Amino acid sequence: MIRVACSEQLHVLEADEFVVRTSGDWALKAAHATACDADAQRWLGWQPEVVRSYEPLRNDLLNRVLDDGPEPADPHHFALVGKRDRRIMGFVVLARQGGRFEMGGCLAPQYRGQGLGAQLFTFGAILAHEHLGLSDIYAGAEVGNIACRGSLLKAGFTPANGPAQHTLPDGRVISSLWFKSTVARGFVCGPGRCRPRWWPAR
Ligand SMILES: CC(C)(COP(=O)(O)OP(=O)(O)OC[C@H]1O[C@@H](n2cnc3c(N)ncnc32)[C@H](O)[C@@H]1OP(=O)(O)O)[C@@H](O)C(=O)NCCC(=O)NCCS
Repeated sequence: MIRVACSEQLHVLEADEFVVRTSGDWALKAAHATACDADAQRWLGWQPEVVRSYEPLRNDLLNRVLDDGPEPADPHHFALVGKRDRRIMGFVVLARQGGRFEMGGCLAPQYRGQGLGAQLFTFGAILAHEHLGLSDIYAGAEVGNIACRGSLLKAGFTPANGPAQHTLPDGRVISSLWFKSTVARGFVCGPGRCRPRWWPAR
């Protein structure tokens, strides 16, 4: 079951084991730290200096108990956080690219390979369609990224048109496949379900 606990600026979806919510400053940094390992960078291809800048802080960020204030750092960036230990598990992000919104995401290394990616992308689609009001969202995956492709399909995305090649931030050109999630009409969740604290009671 998914519970919704949004306030005016923050979107919070709560499942049994984790929450997915608008990232504050710490959550945003911790989320980046989930993606700085070589396996994730094989697919994400961030600029090396960006990856390097997280290296000294990576362990601290991954092991930090998150407790951001109520200000969102980026309204389109969402952190996946464990309810029991309140540590970062991954993130999903929506970015506007040439007139359409594209979704991307990553799990911290210890959470990969267990089927959680499908849940991450499902929650990302719910946030996009039912909280941010977006009817159509797209996601690209490198042809060889089977885990990403499988997770998107399991999350209800369907194959879509998109550029056959994509240039990653580090300059590598990859062959990509595209997927789409569509609803007839997106809507924006209303305020009025504010919680006194950002975190669900444990
Ligand atoms: C992409 C990501 C979110 C996927 O989440 P995940 O939980 O690790 O995905 P899974 O391991 O459950 O794989 C999803 C499906 O692909 C299958 N799969 C994964 N790797 C595979 C492989 N090498 N060959 C065949 N099938 C594979 C899994 O068996 C699973 O299928 P199933 O649900 O039918 O069993 C996660 O791996 C991740 O964060 N990777 C690093 C960053 C990244 O690649 N981001 C996406 C950029 S587009």
